[in-house]
Amino acid sequence: MKRKTKMVHGGITGDDRTGAVSVPIYQVSTYRQPEAGKHTGYEYSRTGNPTRYALETVTAELENGNAGFAFASGMAAITTVMMLLKAGDHVVLTDDVYGGTYRLTTKVLNRIELGHTFVDTSDIEAVEAAIQPNTKMLYIETPTNPLLKVTDLKKMKEIADKHHLLLVVDNTFATPYLQNPLDFGADIVLHSATKYIGGHSDVVAGLVAVNDEQLAEEIHFIQNSVGAVLGPQDSWLLMRGIKTLGLRMEAIEKNANKIATYLDQHPNVEKVYYPGLTSHAGHNVAEQQAEGFGGMIAFDVGSGEKADQVLSKVDYFTLAESLGAVESLISIPARMTHASIPKNRREELGITDGLIRLSIGIEDVDDLIEDLAKGLN
Ligand SMILES: Cc1ncc(COP(=O)(O)O)c(C=O)c1O
Repeated sequence: MKRKTKMVHGGITGDDRTGAVSVPIYQVSTYRQPEAGKHTGYEYSRTGNPTRYALETVTAELENGNAGFAFASGMAAITTVMMLLKAGDHVVLTDDVYGGTYRLTTKVLNRIELGHTFVDTSDIEAVEAAIQPNTKMLYIETPTNPLLKVTDLKKMKEIADKHHLLLVVDNTFATPYLQNPLDFGADIVLHSATKYIGGHSDVVAGLVAVNDEQLAEEIHFIQNSVGAVLGPQDSWLLMRGIKTLGLRMEAIEKNANKIATYLDQHPNVEKVYYPGLTSHAGHNVAEQQAEGFGGMIAFDVGSGEKADQVLSKVDYFTLAESLGAVESLISIPARMTHASIPKNRREELGITDGLIRLSIGIEDVDDLIEDLAKGLN
């Protein structure tokens, strides 16, 4: 099955009993058992729910894995994956990970003595140097949020194999339509499905996929034990989003390419971060490991005041956190999504006060460019 067909026909589709073409929403917590200790495959909806299971099945298929898992948020998915580790273990993470992942690692997981080191994972030698005897996991985002840094998945797999590490990839920005880290040997791929997979700014959710029976069993055990599962209504909304993921990503990427090129030649823009530009440091690696460059662009206008001027002029870009929806969004990472990262750390990373992040939507690209021009000129 080709990629776009998989989005429509993958997983469990419809309902055999009634012929309904969409999976029913099983709004149920418990299931009648034929006799004590026997059940029909479902006993309690934290453990398993048919609507969630249909979503989990298509998730596994989209990522070329053997099992998928749906959670109440991207952070719930990440927390569940981190629970594979134990006190005293150490994890190496991409240095500009999503602010919430940074907060979870440095302010919550540290309480159970899980060690961490943040490195630029686009620098292979830096990753090798960060590995300690107790390192158990290599956790990467590619492309990263908000600087769109690209990490070489093949090289990360080599390092993970050499040091017996679990390789975990947050694939939120690329989506399973454009990049499949399990194909490169990653052990776990995860998503904030709140973003492109849902795609309509109306659901908060997280997804995980693996391609290993034992890992699948362990993640299901933790999913059921921790209990941060996705409800049936939201599971259904994500399945609906998945049907158009391919179409949306194609439209979004076409717009993003044009907008990145426009910004790149604009005299009032100091720097543009978009992996689709040949000048981007990660362009070649992104080209090799993904089917496209996605819809996220960051650009630096030099100061917080200038960034505010852009924000005050745009009409079609909604000032909001989040990304990956049909409508274009604009944000200032330093004051919004990445505010939980200390200022000196942000500056080290390049997340300056003048950095603006765009999540490109499916509007007419001429309107979007005209809108940005008002703020920049
Ligand atoms: C790359 C990335 N990973 C994880 C998350 C967390 O997901 P959620 O907000 O669904 O908990 C986000 C949220 O913005 C994100 O951008």
